[in-house]
Amino acid sequence: MTKRLRLDKLLSDTGRWTRKEAGVLIRQGTVLIDGVSLRKPEEKLDPEAVSITVNGVPLIWSAHSYLMLNKPAGYLTATEDRSAPTVMDLIPDELRKPGLAPVGRLDKDTTGLLLITDDGALAHHLLSPKRHVDKIYLAWVDGTGTEEDCAAFARGLVLGDGTRCLPAGLELLEQGLCRVTVREGKFHQVKRMLASRNLPVTALKRVKMGPLALDETLSEGVVRMLTATEIDQLRQAVVINGQHSSKCTK
Ligand code: URA
Repeated sequence: MTKRLRLDKLLSDTGRWTRKEAGVLIRQGTVLIDGVSLRKPEEKLDPEAVSITVNGVPLIWSAHSYLMLNKPAGYLTATEDRSAPTVMDLIPDELRKPGLAPVGRLDKDTTGLLLITDDGALAHHLLSPKRHVDKIYLAWVDGTGTEEDCAAFARGLVLGDGTRCLPAGLELLEQGLCRVTVREGKFHQVKRMLASRNLPVTALKRVKMGPLALDETLSEGVVRMLTATEIDQLRQAVVINGQHSSKCTK
């Protein structure tokens, strides 16, 4: 059973209203609990045991927060750092919550899709190579890729230091631009894979993680909450793919 939470907190947990705005809505009588108006922001309720509507729209409450950031260059993917700004600095106050952490790591100069959540189990599954959750990147490279490079990615590259990569996808989009699909997240993986084929990366952007695509309307540096559909799709991706776990090469 979920613990009982104040009604104004249940509303503000969705990130759509501040606690103060939630209080106003509740006092106006626009918030119904099981169809009945409750004008007390301080009233404590179990969100899983009641149905809540705000202006007639059902409130989707989740114990966890799921945020999408369009990461700009220049920010570390870390929860804190003394010397450089981190992606956590970009989260607006109303969406901040203890336990939030980035899912996986993008290099300081990498841009694009970053999921930030306090759902540790989902984060773990999304990052596990056994779950087959593809991460898709656009890579701008200095050079021209060939069909042989694509075949080498598909076979599974062995990097200069002997690191073996799982089979990955390389698609040549246009001169100097390619799409890379990987399902693991080794240190500087995409840059090292492309460098091993003599294609040094000049810019890298993550555009997809499993079913979750970067919202192209989200400006760089902006955070938004995931929709209920996006959260469901992520959950389904790790469950379904989890049934097809494969051996992880090392
Ligand atoms: N691979 C890289 O090389 N860098 C990233 O930031 C992500 C994947």
